[in-house]
Amino acid sequence: MKNTITVGLLGLGTVGSGVIEILRDHKERIEHKTGCDVTIKSVLVNDLSKPRELPADTQLTDRSEDITRDPEIDVIVEVMGGIDHTLTILLEAIEHGKHIVTANKDLVAQHGEQLFEACQKHKCDLYYEASVAGGIPIIRSIMDGLSSDRIRKMMGIVNGTTNYIMTKMAQDGVDFDSVLKEAQDLGFAEADPTADVDGLDAARKMTILSILGFSMPYSLEDVDIKGIRGISSDDITYAEELGYRIKLIGIAENDHNGVSVSVEPTLLPIQHPLSSVNDEYNAVYVHGDAVGETMFYGPGAGKLPTATAIVADLIAVLKNIRLGTTGTAYVQPQFPKQVKTKKEQLTKKYIRLHVDDQAGMLNDLTNIFAEYDISFDQFIQRPTEQEGERELMLVTHRVSEEDFEKARQDLESLTSVRSIDSIFRVEGGE
Ligand code: NAP
Ligand code: HSE
Repeated sequence: MKNTITVGLLGLGTVGSGVIEILRDHKERIEHKTGCDVTIKSVLVNDLSKPRELPADTQLTDRSEDITRDPEIDVIVEVMGGIDHTLTILLEAIEHGKHIVTANKDLVAQHGEQLFEACQKHKCDLYYEASVAGGIPIIRSIMDGLSSDRIRKMMGIVNGTTNYIMTKMAQDGVDFDSVLKEAQDLGFAEADPTADVDGLDAARKMTILSILGFSMPYSLEDVDIKGIRGISSDDITYAEELGYRIKLIGIAENDHNGVSVSVEPTLLPIQHPLSSVNDEYNAVYVHGDAVGETMFYGPGAGKLPTATAIVADLIAVLKNIRLGTTGTAYVQPQFPKQVKTKKEQLTKKYIRLHVDDQAGMLNDLTNIFAEYDISFDQFIQRPTEQEGERELMLVTHRVSEEDFEKARQDLESLTSVRSIDSIFRVEGGE
């Protein structure tokens, strides 16, 4: 057994520099836990001319093969992001017997199976705790802590950037663009922040959690995704009036009809524990048959929280190397994929619309909802600054996605409906 483990680091941005810092500051603790000294031999970057702080014996390169083919390197820590190019690099590394630790949810959500197959073939480890909810050990909790239970539902605030943006918009009335810039400066946002804002980043994380939690090969393409661009300050205010807070929530449910996964702005009762998760913090609520309700909370993005998860994975690899058990952690999904139809997906809905203030208008509206057996839980109406116009805010009881969509189309065709401004999912408050 080697007493020194040599690491190749792919990427030296926000997370990569955190990994170097933790390995330096917690060197003795890591050595005590694993019996190994960890050294970073080489670091891959794009731009060799940027000024960097590196340990004395670490070299920089812009050629991935300097790392993937280096026989001295045992483990690759991938914190550079990207999908296709990064997949090629990691597959080459695995072929050369390297274990992989990655924070890359884009890659794991899309090509996890291919990576796992390659790892099994070459007896290599693949760990990715940092890919979901940054510093929260949610993957270990699902894989180990809750492994004896059957998980029915997971609800997560799993994107730090959007939670930061929505917190600042709700609490300080700051406008969307300036608060997005702040989240970028703080290192939470992706290189292309549209993945955060449009819900794709959260969808990738919910795909990973669903595969693990439900032991089913769920695909990113099956996730219903809506981002936060459609939320107005009016919606935030009205939601509060109705007793709710709006958050971008990933919801994964598993029942006898199969699995549904969505990421969308959702109204949660103000007293729901997820409603008070603010700023870049993440939380994942997990409901299991036996355990009941559990919730995991912590920083979901940022340099040191994410690097903590990476180094914890590195420690797991070192222990496996010591025990001779590398490449054995992967468990195939137990069940075939079963995706719920729109008819089987039942949710409450919030809808805000502007209508003509005329006799019979409400009657037309309720007739449409009655046709699809949709009843109301809450209802507010008020005049607007426009002559002859009223604004309506409705919360329905549970309705199938299919029936609600039909009712929405019928509403749109009513001449007395001037605009349908927002439609959001509503959780709880039954
Ligand atoms: P970042 O700050 O943009 O850093 C990326 C690093 O990778 C940079 O050092 C860059 O080189 C290097 N790089 C990018 N593409 C490269 C290429 N094709 N060849 C060589 N080097 C390349 O990114 P980050 O925020 O640290 O995120 C890294 C990964 O962690 C991403 O997968 C992200 O989704 C994930 N993650 C991030 C967070 C977070 O809070 N930031 C949390 C969880 C997971 P240069 O320095 O030369 O530009
Ligand atoms: N951009 C991601 C977020 C980073 O804001 O949550 C952590 O995965």
